[in-house]
Amino acid sequence: MKKKNHVLVTGGAGYIGSHTVVELLNAGYEVTAIDTLERSEIAIIEGVKSITGKAFNFQKADCLDLAAMQKIFSDNQFDAVIHFAAYKSVNESVERPLLYYKNNVGSLMVLLEVMKQFQVHDLIFSSSCTVYGQPDQIPVDESAPFKKAESPYGASKQICERILEDAATEGIRTVSLRYFNPIGAHPSAQIGELPIGVPNNLVPYVTQTAAGIRSQLTVFGNDYTTPDGSCLRDFIHVCDVASAHVNAIKFLQDQKSEKIFEAFNLGTGVGVSVLELVKMFIQVTGVNLNYKIGPRRPGDVEKVYADPKRVMEGLKWKAKYDLGQSLLHAWEWEKKIRGLS
Ligand code: UFG
Repeated sequence: MKKKNHVLVTGGAGYIGSHTVVELLNAGYEVTAIDTLERSEIAIIEGVKSITGKAFNFQKADCLDLAAMQKIFSDNQFDAVIHFAAYKSVNESVERPLLYYKNNVGSLMVLLEVMKQFQVHDLIFSSSCTVYGQPDQIPVDESAPFKKAESPYGASKQICERILEDAATEGIRTVSLRYFNPIGAHPSAQIGELPIGVPNNLVPYVTQTAAGIRSQLTVFGNDYTTPDGSCLRDFIHVCDVASAHVNAIKFLQDQKSEKIFEAFNLGTGVGVSVLELVKMFIQVTGVNLNYKIGPRRPGDVEKVYADPKRVMEGLKWKAKYDLGQSLLHAWEWEKKIRGLS
Protein backbone atom coordinates (compact mmCIF):
# COMPACT_ATOMS: atom_id res chain seq x y z
CA MET A 1 0.00 0.00 0.00
CA LYS A 2 1.23 3.49 -0.83
CA LYS A 3 2.55 5.39 2.14
CA LYS A 4 0.11 8.03 3.30
CA ASN A 5 0.94 11.58 2.36
CA HIS A 6 2.30 13.35 5.40
CA VAL A 7 1.41 17.04 5.74
CA LEU A 8 2.83 19.53 8.24
CA VAL A 9 0.23 22.10 9.31
CA THR A 10 1.63 25.17 11.08
CA GLY A 11 -0.94 27.05 13.16
CA GLY A 12 -2.94 23.84 13.30
CA ALA A 13 -4.89 24.86 16.41
CA GLY A 14 -6.05 28.11 14.83
CA TYR A 15 -9.39 28.86 13.22
CA ILE A 16 -8.71 27.88 9.61
CA GLY A 17 -5.84 25.55 10.53
CA SER A 18 -7.98 23.30 12.73
CA HIS A 19 -10.77 23.01 10.15
CA THR A 20 -8.16 22.12 7.55
CA VAL A 21 -6.68 19.39 9.75
CA VAL A 22 -10.19 17.86 9.87
CA GLU A 23 -10.42 17.90 6.06
CA LEU A 24 -6.93 16.41 5.67
CA LEU A 25 -7.60 13.59 8.14
CA ASN A 26 -10.94 12.85 6.49
CA ALA A 27 -9.18 12.72 3.12
CA GLY A 28 -6.72 10.12 4.46
CA TYR A 29 -3.63 12.28 4.98
CA GLU A 30 -1.22 11.80 7.83
CA VAL A 31 -0.99 15.09 9.71
CA THR A 32 1.51 16.70 12.02
CA ALA A 33 0.14 19.95 13.43
CA ILE A 34 2.16 22.52 15.30
CA ASP A 35 1.05 25.66 17.09
CA THR A 36 2.45 27.95 19.78
CA LEU A 37 -0.97 27.88 21.52
CA GLU A 38 -0.28 31.53 22.24
CA ARG A 39 -3.53 32.59 20.55
CA SER A 40 -5.33 29.28 20.36
CA GLU A 41 -6.48 26.50 22.67
CA ILE A 42 -5.50 22.88 23.04
CA ALA A 43 -9.24 22.06 23.35
CA ILE A 44 -9.50 22.72 19.60
CA ILE A 45 -7.05 19.87 18.95
CA GLU A 46 -9.25 17.62 21.09
CA GLY A 47 -12.24 18.79 19.04
CA VAL A 48 -10.49 17.80 15.80
CA LYS A 49 -9.74 14.34 17.21
CA SER A 50 -13.31 13.93 18.35
CA ILE A 51 -14.78 14.99 14.96
CA THR A 52 -12.53 12.73 12.91
CA GLY A 53 -12.03 9.86 15.37
CA LYS A 54 -8.43 9.93 14.20
CA ALA A 55 -5.20 10.47 16.06
CA PHE A 56 -2.55 12.79 14.69
CA ASN A 57 0.68 14.33 15.92
CA PHE A 58 0.36 17.63 17.66
CA GLN A 59 3.31 19.58 19.00
CA LYS A 60 3.57 22.94 20.72
CA ALA A 61 6.21 24.67 18.65
CA ASP A 62 7.07 28.06 17.22
CA CYS A 63 7.90 28.46 13.53
CA LEU A 64 10.35 31.20 14.46
CA ASP A 65 12.43 28.65 16.36
CA LEU A 66 14.86 27.28 13.77
CA ALA A 67 16.23 24.49 15.98
CA ALA A 68 12.73 23.31 16.93
CA MET A 69 11.67 23.33 13.28
CA GLN A 70 14.76 21.39 12.23
CA LYS A 71 13.98 18.77 14.87
CA ILE A 72 10.40 18.42 13.64
CA PHE A 73 11.58 18.05 10.03
CA SER A 74 14.26 15.54 10.96
CA ASP A 75 11.80 13.44 13.01
CA ASN A 76 9.27 13.31 10.16
CA GLN A 77 9.27 13.02 6.43
CA PHE A 78 6.81 15.57 5.10
CA ASP A 79 5.37 15.61 1.60
CA ALA A 80 3.87 19.07 1.91
CA VAL A 81 3.48 21.98 4.31
CA ILE A 82 0.45 24.19 4.93
CA HIS A 83 1.54 27.40 6.60
CA PHE A 84 -1.22 29.08 8.62
CA ALA A 85 0.86 30.26 11.57
CA ALA A 86 0.65 34.07 11.57
CA TYR A 87 -0.91 36.98 13.41
CA LYS A 88 -4.07 38.31 11.79
CA SER A 89 -5.38 41.38 13.58
CA VAL A 90 -5.43 44.38 11.27
CA ASN A 91 -5.73 46.82 14.22
CA GLU A 92 -2.97 45.25 16.24
CA SER A 93 -0.70 45.30 13.22
CA VAL A 94 -1.13 49.07 12.94
CA GLU A 95 -0.04 49.46 16.57
CA ARG A 96 2.72 46.87 16.50
CA PRO A 97 3.97 46.61 12.92
CA LEU A 98 7.35 45.15 13.82
CA LEU A 99 5.73 42.31 15.72
CA TYR A 100 3.74 41.51 12.58
CA TYR A 101 6.72 41.62 10.24
CA LYS A 102 8.79 39.52 12.62
CA ASN A 103 6.13 36.88 13.15
CA ASN A 104 4.48 36.72 9.75
CA VAL A 105 7.52 37.24 7.52
CA GLY A 106 10.08 35.77 9.95
CA SER A 107 8.22 32.49 10.42
CA LEU A 108 7.96 32.04 6.66
CA MET A 109 11.70 32.63 6.27
CA VAL A 110 12.52 29.99 8.89
CA LEU A 111 10.08 27.58 7.32
CA LEU A 112 11.57 28.05 3.85
CA GLU A 113 15.07 27.51 5.18
CA VAL A 114 14.06 24.24 6.83
CA MET A 115 12.03 23.09 3.82
CA LYS A 116 15.09 23.61 1.62
CA GLN A 117 17.37 21.86 4.07
CA PHE A 118 15.09 18.80 4.25
CA GLN A 119 14.07 18.95 0.59
CA VAL A 120 10.38 19.43 1.14
CA HIS A 121 9.12 21.36 -1.85
CA ASP A 122 5.37 21.80 -1.70
CA LEU A 123 3.84 24.66 0.25
CA ILE A 124 0.32 26.00 0.65
CA PHE A 125 0.37 29.54 1.95
CA SER A 126 -2.42 31.42 3.79
CA SER A 127 -2.82 34.70 2.01
CA SER A 128 -5.64 37.19 2.05
CA CYS A 129 -7.73 39.30 -0.30
CA THR A 130 -6.27 42.20 1.63
CA VAL A 131 -3.33 42.00 -0.82
CA TYR A 132 -5.57 43.74 -3.39
CA GLY A 133 -6.59 46.71 -1.20
CA GLN A 134 -9.66 48.33 -2.83
CA PRO A 135 -9.51 46.78 -6.31
CA ASP A 136 -10.43 48.89 -9.33
CA GLN A 137 -12.67 46.12 -10.60
CA ILE A 138 -14.93 43.75 -8.73
CA PRO A 139 -15.34 40.86 -8.72
CA VAL A 140 -11.55 40.87 -8.37
CA ASP A 141 -9.46 38.25 -10.13
CA GLU A 142 -5.90 37.13 -9.46
CA SER A 143 -4.41 39.37 -12.14
CA ALA A 144 -5.44 42.54 -10.25
CA PRO A 145 -2.42 44.56 -9.12
CA PHE A 146 -1.52 44.86 -5.45
CA LYS A 147 -2.39 48.33 -4.17
CA LYS A 148 -0.47 49.87 -1.29
CA ALA A 149 -1.44 47.74 1.71
CA GLU A 150 -3.90 49.28 4.16
CA SER A 151 -2.09 47.83 7.19
CA PRO A 152 1.17 46.17 8.20
CA TYR A 153 -0.82 42.93 8.35
CA GLY A 154 -1.78 43.37 4.69
CA ALA A 155 1.78 44.36 3.81
CA SER A 156 3.10 41.22 5.55
CA LYS A 157 0.91 39.08 3.25
CA GLN A 158 2.09 40.98 0.16
CA ILE A 159 5.73 40.57 1.21
CA CYS A 160 5.28 36.85 1.89
CA GLU A 161 3.73 36.32 -1.55
CA ARG A 162 6.66 38.14 -3.17
CA ILE A 163 9.12 35.99 -1.23
CA LEU A 164 7.32 32.85 -2.35
CA GLU A 165 7.24 33.97 -5.96
CA ASP A 166 11.03 34.37 -5.79
CA ALA A 167 11.48 31.13 -3.81
CA ALA A 168 10.16 29.19 -6.82
CA THR A 169 13.62 29.62 -8.34
CA GLU A 170 15.02 27.68 -5.40
CA GLY A 171 12.62 24.78 -5.79
CA ILE A 172 9.79 25.85 -3.47
CA ARG A 173 6.46 25.10 -5.16
CA THR A 174 3.72 27.31 -3.75
CA VAL A 175 -0.01 27.64 -3.93
CA SER A 176 -1.04 30.88 -2.25
CA LEU A 177 -4.68 30.97 -1.24
CA ARG A 178 -6.13 34.46 -0.93
CA TYR A 179 -8.93 34.11 1.59
CA PHE A 180 -11.87 36.46 1.43
CA ASN A 181 -13.96 36.52 4.66
CA PRO A 182 -14.00 33.10 6.33
CA ILE A 183 -16.92 32.67 8.74
CA GLY A 184 -18.86 29.88 10.45
CA ALA A 185 -17.68 26.80 12.26
CA HIS A 186 -17.63 23.05 11.82
CA PRO A 187 -21.24 21.75 11.55
CA SER A 188 -20.57 19.50 14.58
CA ALA A 189 -19.97 22.65 16.70
CA GLN A 190 -16.88 20.97 18.13
CA ILE A 191 -14.44 23.49 16.66
CA GLY A 192 -14.79 27.10 15.60
CA GLU A 193 -13.29 30.53 15.99
CA LEU A 194 -12.05 31.64 19.43
CA PRO A 195 -11.53 35.40 19.19
CA ILE A 196 -9.34 37.01 21.86
CA GLY A 197 -11.08 39.80 23.76
CA VAL A 198 -13.53 42.06 21.93
CA PRO A 199 -13.86 40.72 18.37
CA ASN A 200 -12.87 42.97 15.49
CA ASN A 201 -14.54 40.82 12.89
CA LEU A 202 -18.19 41.02 12.05
CA VAL A 203 -19.51 37.49 12.61
CA PRO A 204 -17.96 36.85 16.04
CA TYR A 205 -19.31 40.26 17.07
CA VAL A 206 -22.75 39.29 15.79
CA THR A 207 -22.78 35.93 17.61
CA GLN A 208 -21.43 37.44 20.85
CA THR A 209 -24.12 40.14 20.71
CA ALA A 210 -26.79 37.50 20.13
CA ALA A 211 -25.39 35.55 23.11
CA GLY A 212 -25.63 38.64 25.33
CA ILE A 213 -21.88 39.10 25.76
CA ARG A 214 -21.90 42.39 23.85
CA SER A 215 -24.84 44.75 24.28
CA GLN A 216 -25.05 46.02 20.71
CA LEU A 217 -23.52 45.52 17.30
CA THR A 218 -22.47 48.65 15.40
CA VAL A 219 -22.72 48.49 11.63
CA PHE A 220 -19.81 50.61 10.50
CA GLY A 221 -21.28 52.94 7.91
CA ASN A 222 -24.42 52.99 5.73
CA ASP A 223 -23.33 55.71 3.33
CA TYR A 224 -21.08 53.69 1.02
CA THR A 225 -21.90 53.49 -2.68
CA THR A 226 -23.42 50.03 -2.33
CA PRO A 227 -27.08 48.99 -2.73
CA ASP A 228 -27.91 49.39 0.99
CA GLY A 229 -25.02 51.69 1.92
CA SER A 230 -23.11 49.13 4.04
CA CYS A 231 -19.85 47.46 2.94
CA LEU A 232 -19.88 44.44 0.63
CA ARG A 233 -17.80 41.34 1.38
CA ASP A 234 -17.43 37.76 0.18
CA PHE A 235 -18.24 35.62 3.23
CA ILE A 236 -17.14 32.02 2.89
CA HIS A 237 -17.72 29.03 5.19
CA VAL A 238 -14.52 28.02 6.97
CA CYS A 239 -15.05 24.37 5.98
CA ASP A 240 -15.10 25.42 2.32
CA VAL A 241 -11.88 27.34 2.88
CA ALA A 242 -10.42 24.27 4.58
CA SER A 243 -11.38 21.83 1.84
CA ALA A 244 -9.62 23.96 -0.79
CA HIS A 245 -6.31 23.20 0.94
CA VAL A 246 -6.73 19.50 0.23
CA ASN A 247 -7.35 20.31 -3.43
CA ALA A 248 -4.31 22.59 -3.42
CA ILE A 249 -2.04 19.78 -2.20
CA LYS A 250 -3.35 17.47 -4.94
CA PHE A 251 -2.87 20.26 -7.48
CA LEU A 252 0.79 20.70 -6.53
CA GLN A 253 1.43 16.97 -6.56
CA ASP A 254 -0.01 16.74 -10.07
CA GLN A 255 2.38 19.41 -11.37
CA LYS A 256 5.57 18.27 -13.05
CA SER A 257 7.34 21.62 -12.91
CA GLU A 258 9.87 22.31 -10.18
CA LYS A 259 9.12 26.00 -10.33
CA ILE A 260 5.61 26.93 -9.26
CA PHE A 261 3.95 29.94 -7.72
CA GLU A 262 0.20 29.98 -8.18
CA ALA A 263 -2.24 32.28 -6.41
CA PHE A 264 -5.97 31.55 -6.14
CA ASN A 265 -8.83 33.60 -4.77
CA LEU A 266 -10.75 31.70 -2.15
CA GLY A 267 -14.20 33.22 -2.17
CA THR A 268 -17.73 32.35 -3.24
CA GLY A 269 -18.06 35.07 -5.86
CA VAL A 270 -21.12 36.49 -4.08
CA GLY A 271 -20.96 39.97 -2.60
CA VAL A 272 -23.04 40.28 0.59
CA SER A 273 -23.55 43.50 2.50
CA VAL A 274 -23.07 43.83 6.24
CA LEU A 275 -26.78 44.65 6.66
CA GLU A 276 -27.81 41.66 4.53
CA LEU A 277 -25.69 39.43 6.76
CA VAL A 278 -27.26 40.86 9.91
CA LYS A 279 -30.75 40.24 8.50
CA MET A 280 -29.84 36.73 7.39
CA PHE A 281 -28.52 35.94 10.88
CA ILE A 282 -31.83 37.03 12.44
CA GLN A 283 -33.76 35.02 9.83
CA VAL A 284 -31.90 31.71 10.16
CA THR A 285 -31.39 31.73 13.94
CA GLY A 286 -34.67 33.36 14.97
CA VAL A 287 -32.65 35.35 17.50
CA ASN A 288 -33.12 39.09 17.61
CA LEU A 289 -30.00 41.16 17.24
CA ASN A 290 -29.56 44.58 18.80
CA TYR A 291 -27.74 46.72 16.28
CA LYS A 292 -27.28 50.34 15.32
CA ILE A 293 -25.69 52.18 12.44
CA GLY A 294 -22.45 53.91 13.35
CA PRO A 295 -19.74 55.83 11.53
CA ARG A 296 -17.45 54.20 8.99
CA ARG A 297 -14.49 52.24 10.36
CA PRO A 298 -11.20 53.79 9.21
CA GLY A 299 -9.33 51.65 6.70
CA ASP A 300 -12.37 49.62 5.55
CA VAL A 301 -12.50 48.68 1.91
CA GLU A 302 -15.93 49.63 0.50
CA LYS A 303 -16.59 46.50 -1.51
CA VAL A 304 -14.62 43.43 -2.39
CA TYR A 305 -15.67 40.01 -3.58
CA ALA A 306 -13.92 37.29 -5.51
CA ASP A 307 -13.97 36.15 -9.06
CA PRO A 308 -13.63 32.44 -8.17
CA LYS A 309 -13.28 31.17 -11.77
CA ARG A 310 -9.60 30.36 -11.46
CA VAL A 311 -9.89 28.41 -8.21
CA MET A 312 -12.95 26.53 -9.44
CA GLU A 313 -11.15 25.42 -12.60
CA GLY A 314 -7.58 25.12 -11.32
CA LEU A 315 -8.26 23.42 -7.99
CA LYS A 316 -11.56 21.79 -9.05
CA TRP A 317 -13.12 23.36 -6.00
CA LYS A 318 -16.42 25.04 -5.25
CA ALA A 319 -17.99 26.45 -2.08
CA LYS A 320 -20.65 24.07 -0.70
CA TYR A 321 -22.20 26.14 2.07
CA ASP A 322 -24.37 29.22 1.69
CA LEU A 323 -24.51 32.28 3.93
CA GLY A 324 -27.45 31.02 6.01
CA GLN A 325 -25.70 27.73 6.82
CA SER A 326 -22.47 29.55 7.64
CA LEU A 327 -24.24 31.86 10.09
CA LEU A 328 -26.19 29.02 11.65
CA HIS A 329 -22.96 27.09 12.24
CA ALA A 330 -21.31 30.19 13.74
CA TRP A 331 -24.28 30.52 16.09
CA GLU A 332 -24.25 26.81 17.08
CA TRP A 333 -20.56 27.17 17.97
CA GLU A 334 -21.14 30.35 19.99
CA LYS A 335 -23.94 28.60 21.93
CA LYS A 336 -21.71 25.60 22.53
CA ILE A 337 -18.82 27.60 24.01
CA ARG A 338 -21.17 29.73 26.12
CA GLY A 339 -23.16 26.77 27.37
CA LEU A 340 -26.42 28.09 25.85
CA SER A 341 -29.10 25.80 24.47
N1 UFG B 1 -18.16 45.37 10.63
C1 UFG B 1 -19.17 46.04 11.28
N2 UFG B 1 -19.24 45.93 12.63
C2 UFG B 1 -18.35 45.19 13.36
C3 UFG B 1 -17.33 44.51 12.68
C4 UFG B 1 -17.25 44.62 11.30
O1 UFG B 1 -19.99 46.72 10.65
O2 UFG B 1 -18.48 45.17 14.60
C5 UFG B 1 -18.08 45.48 9.17
C6 UFG B 1 -16.77 46.08 8.69
O3 UFG B 1 -16.84 47.48 8.72
C7 UFG B 1 -16.65 45.50 7.30
C8 UFG B 1 -17.35 44.13 7.42
O4 UFG B 1 -18.11 44.18 8.61
O5 UFG B 1 -17.37 46.27 6.42
C9 UFG B 1 -16.37 42.99 7.54
O6 UFG B 1 -15.45 43.29 8.59
P1 UFG B 1 -14.47 42.20 9.21
O7 UFG B 1 -13.65 42.89 10.24
O8 UFG B 1 -15.23 41.00 9.63
O9 UFG B 1 -13.59 41.76 7.98
P2 UFG B 1 -12.68 42.64 7.01
O10 UFG B 1 -13.29 42.50 5.66
O11 UFG B 1 -12.43 43.99 7.51
O12 UFG B 1 -11.30 41.88 7.20
C10 UFG B 1 -11.14 40.62 6.71
C11 UFG B 1 -10.14 39.84 7.56
C12 UFG B 1 -8.78 40.44 7.47
C13 UFG B 1 -8.39 40.67 6.05
C14 UFG B 1 -9.44 41.45 5.33
C15 UFG B 1 -9.15 41.61 3.88
O13 UFG B 1 -10.55 39.85 8.91
O14 UFG B 1 -7.87 39.56 8.06
O15 UFG B 1 -10.67 40.76 5.41
O16 UFG B 1 -10.02 42.53 3.30
F1 UFG B 1 -7.24 41.36 5.99
